[in-house]
Amino acid sequence: MTQTNNETLTLVTGGNRGMGLEIVRELAAKGQHIILGSRNLVKGQQSADQLATEGFSVDVVELDVTNPDSVTQAAKQLTDKFGYLSVLINNAGAVFDFGQKASDVSVDTLQKDFGINYFGLIDVTQKMLPLLKKAPQAKIINISSMMGSKTEALNPESVVYQAVAVGYQSAKAAANMFTVQLAKEMQREQLNITVNAIDPGMVATEFGGSTPDRAKSMGAQPITHGVARTIELATDWNNKDNATFSNTEGPVAW
Ligand SMILES: NC(=O)c1ccc[n+]([C@@H]2O[C@H](COP(=O)([O-])OP(=O)(O)OC[C@H]3O[C@@H](n4cnc5c(N)ncnc54)[C@H](OP(=O)(O)O)[C@@H]3O)[C@@H](O)[C@H]2O)c1
Repeated sequence: MTQTNNETLTLVTGGNRGMGLEIVRELAAKGQHIILGSRNLVKGQQSADQLATEGFSVDVVELDVTNPDSVTQAAKQLTDKFGYLSVLINNAGAVFDFGQKASDVSVDTLQKDFGINYFGLIDVTQKMLPLLKKAPQAKIINISSMMGSKTEALNPESVVYQAVAVGYQSAKAAANMFTVQLAKEMQREQLNITVNAIDPGMVATEFGGSTPDRAKSMGAQPITHGVARTIELATDWNNKDNATFSNTEGPVAW
């Protein structure tokens, strides 16, 4: 660890369940001070209460990534209470167009996919950036998906080849380009902030309206496997990776 001046302070969006909650749990277990972002404060507090029974104390902030006022308020709360942020994990995500054909998926549905997975991620990032700049060293980790890889979508050997969710896939691909552009900007401006995208793989959560058991029966990995690369990157301050897209197995094609 070379991060010294402050305690590592980490915000996880969509932290109340699924991979977000596991990321909160594992980073708290590693001694980071966690702010669990949840669009529903009651649900967020319930998750924090559950973690407390496991011995982890975390803060909760109301944060709906698709509501600009909510994001502004969350940034203000963190500014007033802490004045800096070490790690931002943009985990909140959702799919609205599984199985819908590119030829007739509605623009309204596509906008929902982009609302959370692209515009929401950018709004949170931009509003938290002043706080990240206050930390001696900071990381932005964007939870993307191999579903956003055009290389994999064109590879008949890949699981992504058969997948059809053009809105979700395009939004994750767009978030990947935002990752690259912001990473290069941070580097150009000689800021000590890295920006990377992660593919968790297919993971047994309630994502897309599934159940963990159903997802598992279709080959999804345990949640702990899905978050492993994120935990590695969020805790290794010697790792200077920037503008990368990776999963637990290694680099992922853009
Ligand atoms: N599961 C997979 O196989 C898989 C694969 C590749 C990538 N991913 C990505 O991994 C991330 C986490 O997915 P997951 O599997 O953990 O999904 P999940 O179990 O469905 O959890 C999604 C989380 O996002 C939150 N959320 C939804 N809309 C939000 C909003 N407007 N503002 C803030 N939070 C919001 C949910 O909160 P509520 O409880 O309030 O709904 C929930 O906490 C997502 O970005 C997803 O795209 C998942």
